Amino acid sequence: MSDPIGLLSGKRIVLGVTGGIAAYKAAELTRLLGKAGATVDVVMTEAATHFVSAVTFQALSGRNVWSSLWDADQRGMAHIDLTRGEGGADAVLVAPATADFLARLVHGMANDLLTTLCLARDCPLLVAPAMNRQMWEQPATKRNIAQLESDGVAILGPAEGEQACGEVGEGRMLEAQEIFDALVAFLQPKPLAGKKVLLTAGPTFEALDPVRGLTNASSGKMGFALARACAEAGAEVTVVAGPVSEKSQPWRYARRIDVVSALEMRDAVLASLPGQDVFIAVAAVADYRPVRAFEHKIKKGEETLKLELVANPDILAQVAARPDAPFCVGFAAESRNLAEYAEAKRKAKKLPLVVGNLVQDGLGGDTNQVTLFDDTGAHPLPAADKLNVARGIVSHIARLMKCPQ
Ligand code: PMT
Repeated sequence: MSDPIGLLSGKRIVLGVTGGIAAYKAAELTRLLGKAGATVDVVMTEAATHFVSAVTFQALSGRNVWSSLWDADQRGMAHIDLTRGEGGADAVLVAPATADFLARLVHGMANDLLTTLCLARDCPLLVAPAMNRQMWEQPATKRNIAQLESDGVAILGPAEGEQACGEVGEGRMLEAQEIFDALVAFLQPKPLAGKKVLLTAGPTFEALDPVRGLTNASSGKMGFALARACAEAGAEVTVVAGPVSEKSQPWRYARRIDVVSALEMRDAVLASLPGQDVFIAVAAVADYRPVRAFEHKIKKGEETLKLELVANPDILAQVAARPDAPFCVGFAAESRNLAEYAEAKRKAKKLPLVVGNLVQDGLGGDTNQVTLFDDTGAHPLPAADKLNVARGIVSHIARLMKCPQ
């Protein structure tokens, strides 16, 4: 989740609400969209008004709520003006989208304001289905979803879980925050469209015995945020993740490979490397590992215990040195002298870009402050939550790669 303030400023969203119990979540969605700076026009089907009052949406959006094709205020042209008037809508988002609404959409029906404006729109359409699990599993619904996908409609969800009817299964609408995040992602520029990005994230764990090992405090949050920002920018993303507590997918469009040690991370990176356009090494890889891991738990005994360590391979250096190397981005985590050390790492590994951060700013937490070091100098980015920092890094990468913005 990223801080919503300003994320959608200047955007116009038409929020369609159809008649399902999940309509109550659309109220929270309206609030989130408004807080992010979007202008929100809510269009309700007649059925939706049986679940939530139009007054709720009016209060939350601060604008008229529309439900009839025949509104005198709009000269009977609401179905055109709501998406194409005032500079045009950036997207139509229908949440919840019932099985009935989806079926009508598939057939291009125009028998109420919402279906008519969907047909008359010239902006993207996103729908968040919500229905009983049996309805969701019906071949008719599956056919409709497949048709909508091939018509270019973005389908958000649904999720699995307990349903209003008491049954458990797939069909419940995503939460308002998830729909909001998906919309923000959808509206991001796509400079990495068609590109493949490979990342490392998190720490590595170098076993000493079956219970102990050498590791560090990297949470994987910066790497996962970058994976998500790359996916939002249109890339096909693979993340090689060390052992992190965050078990969820870094971002639902990223492939995730879990590893434990630096050697496993190196092997997974090299196996995934063919065809990659970009490699971003965010992981805090242990520089050393024990020469041997004890088969059984080391018993307490002597006053001192000597450990013999051997250097781990430098994954980033190995990748960057290949003749077919992708565009390589390194990270530098320092506790002082950031510019000097980060620039030294960039030169040593011959990298076009190094992202420098102080451990006290970025390790473990939800925010970070980074400076980007490239051939033209140092470019500090404002301190922000890790997703917004990641978006800044991605747009810098795209500029250096001369991707169309
Ligand atoms: O995971 P978080 O809690 O969100 O924290 C994020 C972070 C602070 C870990 C991240 O922003 C960061 O700085 N990652 C790099 C940490 C690091 O180990 O830096 P380094 O200076 O030791 O390594 C330099 C570069 O070489 C890094 O890109 C690293 O991934 C890579 N490297 C290092 C050693 C090694 N054996 N193989 C490598 O690929």
